[in-house]
Formats: sequence, structure tokens, C-alpha cells
Amino acid sequence: MLVLGIESSCDESAVALVDVGLDTCPKILSEKVSSQVSLHAQYGGVVPELAAREHLFNLPLLYEAVLKEAQLSLADVDLIAVTQGPGLKGCLLIGLEFAKGLSLASGKPLIGVNHIEGHVQAARLEGAKLQEPLAALIVSGGHTEIIHSCAPLEYKVLARTIDDAAGEAFDKSANLLGFDYPGGAQLAKLADTVTISRFSLPKVMRESSGFSFSGLKTAIALLIKRQPDAVGDNILRAELAHSIQNSIVEALLFKLKNELESTPCKTITVSGGVACNRLLREQVSKLSNIPVLVPTPAHCVDNAAMIALAGGLRFLKQGQRAASSLDLEVHARWPIETLG
Ligand code: KG4
Ligand code: ZN
Repeated sequence: MLVLGIESSCDESAVALVDVGLDTCPKILSEKVSSQVSLHAQYGGVVPELAAREHLFNLPLLYEAVLKEAQLSLADVDLIAVTQGPGLKGCLLIGLEFAKGLSLASGKPLIGVNHIEGHVQAARLEGAKLQEPLAALIVSGGHTEIIHSCAPLEYKVLARTIDDAAGEAFDKSANLLGFDYPGGAQLAKLADTVTISRFSLPKVMRESSGFSFSGLKTAIALLIKRQPDAVGDNILRAELAHSIQNSIVEALLFKLKNELESTPCKTITVSGGVACNRLLREQVSKLSNIPVLVPTPAHCVDNAAMIALAGGLRFLKQGQRAASSLDLEVHARWPIETLG
């Protein structure tokens, strides 16, 4: 079935056309993303009102471009899938109202998609077979969760962050090292220029069940206060970046390994912007003998192909009852375990 996917939960506007089948490999006919990173960089973080305004401007353009590239029209589309949550309320509203307009004008069914479910399913976009039971590590600027799925489209959360997300930990640390927002990827790049570090940072929350990264930020801030040359000297700065990256990746792997010991799995997937991290990609595959599937970087970060795929799979599995009415509302918070 041909699914039009629409994503606007944070600072990426995205539209995609994906051919989705229950037993076939999804085929992306066209996908477009417009990132707002440079707009928000000057404010040091995402400004929700500005992001929403950008989505309003971008979505119609991306929609036209995607249909043009695929040489199709809305009449060819079988289903419209839109991110319903979790995310920034004003941003979600723009995407949802845009999708409702298309559904109303065309009579095509509409389905609201959980953004995290999109990230979990994203590895299928590359043709990988995700075999349940599976464990998904979702690590982005807004989310850090280990999710277990025993059956297709059924989820249980094994661990989630109680404060900062892994991407936020990268970005806030990067900021302390003098990088502009979001900074996580730049910190990682600098970290990879050295192989050792003379800095040792505290292990992050090993005992409790969830993730916590706020203590790491405090430890780095204190370290820099006591030793300003840790950011003033090029070699020391690279070594500090190296320790920060090790500390965040080690915390993610420690919890994932713990969960895998008590939860049987046939597949591990890692997704979200932080899944672009080289060290994490490398280390996660050494964690166990279980096959690890990580999407290409373009499908680790926010994209509309994963939304089209997740919406299409749910519609094919649940039939018309999965379709949403036009009074659908956004959910700024929407835990994945509540999906039925
Ligand atoms: O999934 P995403 O594009 O957006 C959401 O937050 O939903 O993730 C963006 C996050 C940012 O925090 C960014 O710094 C982080 O992913 N990120 C990285 C890397 N590339 C992106 N963090 C560590 N290493 C990277 N290579
Ligand atoms: Zn995301």
C-alpha cells in the first residue's frame, strides 16, 4: 500500500512516500527532509514557536516535491500517516492539521503514528528483517529508552531516562566545551581524534533501573571550573570530549547489556540521532551474539519514511479500525507501551 508519511514533532519537517507491505521490504519512492538546526542554533536550543512556523512553511513544499519526484498524485496514495506524538505540541499540531486537510480533501484514510514506534521500525527501511522478540535502544535529543517487543507492534519499556536524554547529554556537554547547539556530532568528531584521555568522569547511575545523565553535566561543569585549560588547550579539550563520549556510550551499553541478560531477544535495533555515533554503533555490535540492526544515519534521525512505514504496518495489521477520525488530537506525551 502506498503511504504518505508526515513528520513534524520537533525541528525536522519531513514528508515521504513509501510502499509498505506486511511481508515485503518497504520501498521508498521519495523522501524529503528540511532541517531547522541552523535556525535554532542561534538560540542554543529548539524554540517551539519558531519550529512550528517553519513546519507550516515547509510541509506544503516538501509534499509537492515528494509527489513530483515520485511522479504520483494524492489520488495514488492509499493512506496518510502523520506523527501524532510524542513531541512539541505546536509542531505536532501543524503536521496533524496538514494531514487532516489532505485526508479531508481526498477521502484517503488517516492514521496517527507514535514517533518512537517510527524509530523502532526504522531499521526495516533498509530491508532488514526485524525478528521478535526484539530490543530497541532509542537514543535521540528528546528520548532515551530501551524497548522490548515480543510481537509485532506490541511494546514494553524496559528503561527510560529520568532526566536528560542521551542526545541532550551530548549537546549540553558540547556546549560546555564551547560548541554551538546541537554540538553532539561535533563533540563526537573531536572525541575520535584521540585514543586516550587523562580525564576520568563518574559512572552514570549504574544501580537504578532508568537512565540519568544530569549528574554527568554537573561533573563536567565542575571539572572545567577547576581546570579551565581543559577547554582552552586543544589536546585537553579533545581528551575531555573522548571521556564524555566514552561515559555516555558506556552508560547506554551497560543498561542495554543488563536488560538483555533478563530479556530474551532475537534482534537488537538502535535508532535516533545518537545512533549515528561511531563508538556506539561499533560497541553495540560487540555486546552479544544477537544481530544488531542500525538504520543508515538518514533514517536514525527524524524522518518521514519511518512514520509512513509504522503507520502502514499498523493499518495493514489492524485494518480500518486503526484509521483515525478527523477529530484526532496530538499527544505531546505518548508512552509507546500504551499502544494497543
Ligand atoms: O533523532 P534526532 O535527529 O532528533 C531528536 O532529538 O528527535 O537526534 C538529534 C540528537 C542531537 O542531540 C544530536 O547532538 C545527536 O542526536 N547526535 C549525535 C551524533 N549525531 C547526532 N550524538 C552523538 N554522536 C553523533 N555522531
Ligand atoms: Zn526522533
